[in-house]
Amino acid sequence: MGLISLNKISGNYSDVYGNILSFFPTWKKKDIVLTRIPMGLSSYNFKLDHLPTQKSYLYKQYKKKKLKDMEVKMLRFFNKFNFGAKVLFSSPIGRIEEWIDGKKVVINSVNWILIARELARFHRECRLNHNDLHAENILQTKNKKLHFIDFEFNGKLDPSYDIANFFCEMMFDYDSKKPHKADLKRFPKLDQIKLFCGHYLKTGNKNKIMACAKKVISRVPESHHFWIKWAESSNTDFNRKYIKTRKEMLEINFDKLVFM
Ligand SMILES: Nc1ncnc2c1ncn2[C@@H]1O[C@H](COP(=O)(O)OP(=O)(O)O)[C@@H](O)[C@H]1O
Ligand SMILES: [Mg+2]
Repeated sequence: MGLISLNKISGNYSDVYGNILSFFPTWKKKDIVLTRIPMGLSSYNFKLDHLPTQKSYLYKQYKKKKLKDMEVKMLRFFNKFNFGAKVLFSSPIGRIEEWIDGKKVVINSVNWILIARELARFHRECRLNHNDLHAENILQTKNKKLHFIDFEFNGKLDPSYDIANFFCEMMFDYDSKKPHKADLKRFPKLDQIKLFCGHYLKTGNKNKIMACAKKVISRVPESHHFWIKWAESSNTDFNRKYIKTRKEMLEINFDKLVFM
């Protein structure tokens, strides 16, 4: 995802510097470079560079003053297991996280396996679902390490649903000009699904792999229902189009698509 400079974006960010200086009282405004990260549904995200120390951070400023206590508490919990960016400072206005120097993961065959293993580790160690896993929420650093981020929708452990949701997300490109569009051709093929399940389960047992694949695909409609309900809670242009797409997806028999 590209970064765009702060002054190219309209909006009132006058308090951003003040907020940041409240986290770092010894810093001077002239030593800070802020770069807005596009998108961000519930917060404004910035890359924060501090010139004298040459250190980078993520600054997340909340759009609504709704309580983010739970989100931060959960993020700190995931941090304990080395998931997500470490929370450095937090207040009701926003938070500072460690900067993950990476890029949105490219879905290729190597990363496909790495994602399956990392999701297995997430489920095994945290005993919770991520529930919003997609390429934008997986950063990859130069050493190829993956970092899951954005745990806003975490919930009860339910692996087959988490995997089904991730597979559905493969059809969307939120970075594109038509983020609401789904490309059915991008839904994982049976070979890819089996590869993913095998690495997720750490098994070569064909029966176990096939049972996992079947179970995962049976959960696909639940993902569509979830995101329809989510989008219905706020009437935006994107949400209206997204509901339409997800409803179209509900008409598709993914079982037939994958296994026939
Ligand atoms: N700690 C971080 N380090 C580097 N980049 C980050 C970090 N957190 C978020 N980002 C970037 O900002 C984008 C949006 O952040 P995210 O937490 O996913 O919020 P949203 O809920 O808006 O999707 C991510 O896709 C990623 O590119
Ligand atoms: Mg995100």
